[in-house]
Amino acid sequence: MVDEHTDPVATGRRRRVLITGAGGQLGRALATAFADDDVVALTREEWDVAEPYRGEPVDLVLHAAAWTDVDGAESDPQGAAAVNVGGTANTAAVGASLVAFSTDYVFDGTKGAPYVESDGPSPLSAYGRTKLHGEAAAGPGAWVVRSSWLFGPTGHNFVRTMLRLGEERDEVSVVDDQRGSPTYVGHLATATRELVDRDLPRGVWHLAADGDCTWADFAEAIFEEAGLECRVRRITTEELGRPAPRPREAILRSEREGAPELPHWREGLRECLSVLDR
Ligand SMILES: NC(=O)c1ccc[n+]([C@@H]2O[C@H](COP(=O)([O-])OP(=O)(O)OC[C@H]3O[C@@H](n4cnc5c(N)ncnc54)[C@H](OP(=O)(O)O)[C@@H]3O)[C@@H](O)[C@H]2O)c1
Repeated sequence: MVDEHTDPVATGRRRRVLITGAGGQLGRALATAFADDDVVALTREEWDVAEPYRGEPVDLVLHAAAWTDVDGAESDPQGAAAVNVGGTANTAAVGASLVAFSTDYVFDGTKGAPYVESDGPSPLSAYGRTKLHGEAAAGPGAWVVRSSWLFGPTGHNFVRTMLRLGEERDEVSVVDDQRGSPTYVGHLATATRELVDRDLPRGVWHLAADGDCTWADFAEAIFEEAGLECRVRRITTEELGRPAPRPREAILRSEREGAPELPHWREGLRECLSVLDR
């Protein structure tokens, strides 16, 4: 007998995909990448993931909801844990296949080389710790996708902030001693779809843009690509003085066979600017 819930292909029914945090930048990109499926995209107002799920059964959960305020998590680690750990446990309890998103901030950035999946995590911040515990809460049957420095055409992100500042000012001060791989949410969403559709083995996957740079390099590239005349003054993390410590160099690479590959961050930037309404 075919189980309609677990075997949508055999019945010809479209896969039902639940997206959490659907109002966020990754949530929106996932809704586009999975548009061929029967998508149930729930914003925070529609499902606060800190509460148990009470909706219809689904085949796949793409868990993009998270407490992403890295500095705010330092002063309210329990609030961050309620969403990033408790919320992830609630998505695992839905009982469907699960993709849970995590972060380069589970690493301390001292390795001196790119991080692969088998490297031991050692988060520096409350946010990083909650995300690491969230990975465990997702369970062994989940795909745990770690990515880094997300940006897209909507929401709060570095690209949008720089575009605003670049219009207003002649110069901006940007940190030049943190290195990572800025990842376009559209590319991450496509790679996530590949992971699921190819039914690659469950567990941790590093999916981040090709290439790496500092925040200051990224700001200069944004101004260049957007045609804005704004200088970048390169400063240190210490000069910026944020509450949460960040890894100095957290570049994610995959050591796993058949890992989906993402385009270079600069290509992501160009694509983002082409769809951004400015
Ligand atoms: N942003 C990055 O640079 C980055 C880097 C690496 C990994 N990640 C991970 O990637 C995933 C997506 O991040 P993102 O950049 O798309 O973040 P985002 O734009 O901040 O979106 C997160 C969404 O989650 C929602 N949310 C917060 N608390 C919730 C709750 N209790 N219940 C339901 N929804 C809730 C937020 O709603 P409100 O806006 O109303 O709070 C927001 O719409 C997260 O797991 C994040 O940790 C992000």
